[in-house]
Amino acid sequence: MTRYRKYFLISRRCSLMCIFLIGSICFLGIYLFFVPKTFNYFAVLAKIKVKENIDLSLIERSTFPAKEYDKPETAKKPISFKSNVSSFKQFLLNRKVGELTVNAAPFASELDYIPSFRFVINERDICNEITPFLILLIATKADEKQHREAIRKTWGNESVVPGIKVVRLFMLGVNSKEQNEALLRESSQYHDIIQQDFLDTYKNLTLKTIMGLKWVAAYCGGANFVMKTDSDVFVNTEYLIQRLLRPLMPPPQYYFTGYLVRNGQPHRSNESKWYVPKEIYSAERYPDFCSGTGYVLSGALASKIVNASLKVKYIYLEDIYVALCLEHEGIDIVPPPENYLFNSYKVPFSPCTYNRLITSHGIYPDEQITYWETLQSNKYVCGK
Ligand SMILES: *[C@@H]1O[C@H](CO)[C@@H](O)[C@H](O)[C@H]1NC(C)=O
Ligand SMILES: *[C@@H]1O[C@H](CO)[C@@H](O)[C@H](O)[C@H]1NC(C)=O
Ligand SMILES: *[C@@H]1O[C@H](CO)[C@@H](O)[C@H](O)[C@H]1NC(C)=O
Ligand SMILES: *[C@@H]1O[C@H](CO)[C@@H](O)[C@H](O)[C@H]1NC(C)=O
Ligand SMILES: *[C@@H]1O[C@H](CO)[C@@H](O)[C@H](O)[C@H]1NC(C)=O
Repeated sequence: MTRYRKYFLISRRCSLMCIFLIGSICFLGIYLFFVPKTFNYFAVLAKIKVKENIDLSLIERSTFPAKEYDKPETAKKPISFKSNVSSFKQFLLNRKVGELTVNAAPFASELDYIPSFRFVINERDICNEITPFLILLIATKADEKQHREAIRKTWGNESVVPGIKVVRLFMLGVNSKEQNEALLRESSQYHDIIQQDFLDTYKNLTLKTIMGLKWVAAYCGGANFVMKTDSDVFVNTEYLIQRLLRPLMPPPQYYFTGYLVRNGQPHRSNESKWYVPKEIYSAERYPDFCSGTGYVLSGALASKIVNASLKVKYIYLEDIYVALCLEHEGIDIVPPPENYLFNSYKVPFSPCTYNRLITSHGIYPDEQITYWETLQSNKYVCGK
């Protein structure tokens, strides 16, 4: 008796479970079928939600798509595309909006593309005659002329390694009219400035990086390598070339390395400099990324990242944004051959350590000069 009951109970439980399982699978199937089509809709909702709750400056770019949407041809497309699916979609959405809109946020629709800005200062002819081995893209601001002067005289000197073509470009957005006139003069003297007409702010740093990569893709696609760095970073260009890049030749098609950060978490406190609300980026972890203080990529990868930037949702942390683009394209970051090469903090100076590193961060212009000069006269101290 008891045996029978046991069997009966088990099979009854089993059948209930089966029914539940089959039901869930069916639901999941139907749901997954509709998800790709609802993605855009989620993104729209996310945007609207963000608009209501959060300071507008975080998503200033919403002004751009808004303009696009006024155009009749872009407005028509989504409607005809939605067709009949929409009623069922609506049904699904109404129940799930709270959670799913947010989860859909990291990537998303055409609403979140990076608009194109106009070059105010450009150097389109640099690569007509030479194909550089390395392009240095240095993020800087108008009032950092001292930094630029120091870099020109030190690690940014384009003839730092005999026989190797290096191109140095400072990247800027726009500020005041006076600053821009000064920049134009500086540009006509050195021809190492590129500038687009976006406002030069911290939250627009991603625009600056993408501008640099666009420049590479458009005017210098044949370059072997590109390095993105900042004006307060010391770069041992010679060691970068001899230790890291030359041994890689011929350049791998898609190569990316730098100070690798794994398992980074978004800062959720609004007092952090790197605050990212869930509405902007919802996942608990960032993908592996390389600190924006200095990363190196193959020239061919620039165009790939620029293409991805048309599809990857904007986040103002430029190094995270680039990592999201790489993830979108399925490209893995290569860890540097030695951990001490790239540093996102200030390494205490000694000729021995600086002869064997590629980046050190938080360096003032006068330090750039003294470090560089000291290294020139101590080239082989602990060097090779
Ligand atoms: C879809 O359904 C709507 C009504 O909700 C109807 O007007 C329309 O003709 C249908 N479209 C197609 C392609 O069947
Ligand atoms: C760059 O390096 C070359 C070769 O060492 C040197 O002749 C030139 O003066 C340097 N340029 C600047 C701006 O310091
Ligand atoms: C970024 O640049 C755009 C274009 O100039 C500007 O409208 C926007 O206010 C800037 N965003 C921030 C946060 O500074
Ligand atoms: C930060 O968040 C707290 C609580 O969540 C809120 O009271 C405060 O106004 C926020 N500050 C800013 C600058 O948004
Ligand atoms: C990026 O897109 C452009 C235009 O669609 C295309 O010509 C180019 O090959 C793409 N680049 C890469 C690396 O896929």
